[in-house]
Amino acid sequence: MEDESLNPLRRMSSRTRKVAPKMVAALTSSDNRTQVWLSLPLSRHTFDFELSGGVNRIFELEELLDAAAQSGVSASDAILPSKSSNRRSEDVISFYKVDVITPAQKLLARKLTCDIVSGKSLLVTGPNGSGKSSVFRALRGLWPIVSGRLTKPSQSINEARSGCGIFYVPQRPYTCLGTLRDQIIYPLSREEAEIRLSQFHGSDQRSDDSTHLDMHLKTILENVRLNYLLEREGGSWDANNNNWEDVLSLGEQQRLGMARLFFQKPLFGILDECTNATSVDVEEHLYRLAADMGITVVTSSQRPALIPFHTLELRLIDGEGNWKLRLIKQ
Ligand SMILES: Nc1ncnc2c1ncn2[C@@H]1O[C@H](COP(=O)(O)OP(=O)(O)O)[C@@H](O)[C@H]1O
Ligand SMILES: [Mg+2]
Repeated sequence: MEDESLNPLRRMSSRTRKVAPKMVAALTSSDNRTQVWLSLPLSRHTFDFELSGGVNRIFELEELLDAAAQSGVSASDAILPSKSSNRRSEDVISFYKVDVITPAQKLLARKLTCDIVSGKSLLVTGPNGSGKSSVFRALRGLWPIVSGRLTKPSQSINEARSGCGIFYVPQRPYTCLGTLRDQIIYPLSREEAEIRLSQFHGSDQRSDDSTHLDMHLKTILENVRLNYLLEREGGSWDANNNNWEDVLSLGEQQRLGMARLFFQKPLFGILDECTNATSVDVEEHLYRLAADMGITVVTSSQRPALIPFHTLELRLIDGEGNWKLRLIKQ
């Protein structure tokens, strides 16, 4: 008999349940058109309409996509350990002879081979359109790995750190419906965020979880220099503003994305030009914070100011498959 607790569909909201199988079918299809469709960003309307019911919606979908990738359909090699490394996958992101190919079959990086170990951050550089974001799409499982092997930590909670293994911050973070609190703890629900935080600090904090959570979020807001947003909401974490995308500038949305990263405190943060609308001094401050928190970053950026925050540079030379890896002199 099927163990229902292992079936990701059982844990989804009914609306997500309707959408997800279509996306998984598209992911596992060898038809180029459906893969192109899958790689297009979902429209905001689709997100709001289909996926706004529960705070878990995006991660639930990702879990299912991960499950599909791991089921061996067209991506059977994706989670096998790298030949070049014996480390557990929880501690390393490893590309081994991975061809990064667009859904239109354009080869962007040929036999990409690169180990990112905890504590040694990677900067991905290259001209516009050379494939920086595409490397992250492959890493995230949005594009299948058709040749080579990719090893990466799971997105789920890593008990040793009480944070997730890997957390992605896009250039324009998705702003969800709800309160300022919801924006920072996204994609977790308030209850899940309280549990997560109590795991960070031990079970004796459980008695006043709500206050504890809001105090913690206030510190994060101050760290990303957005504390004035709370003041604007009259100091209330419960004020509902459904219009965050319209109200916040891109720079503010990006700092919110970094606030999410700091709340999640993953082992690896995948940052796709997600601070390029902030000033350079704020950007440097955010990267210093990430380093202080022990988050190993994998950054796509064109800004030279970020070079000192990384150990390795992966340069995608021409968008035709050529790449170069170099050690950054400290
Ligand atoms: N879904 C897609 N289908 C086909 N081609 C794509 C898709 N997404 C990106 N590309 C192409 O892949 C190339 C690399 O894009 P991208 O990784 O976004 O570049 P960047 O280095 O600027 O981040 C570009 O030529 C882009 O047009
Ligand atoms: Mg890009």
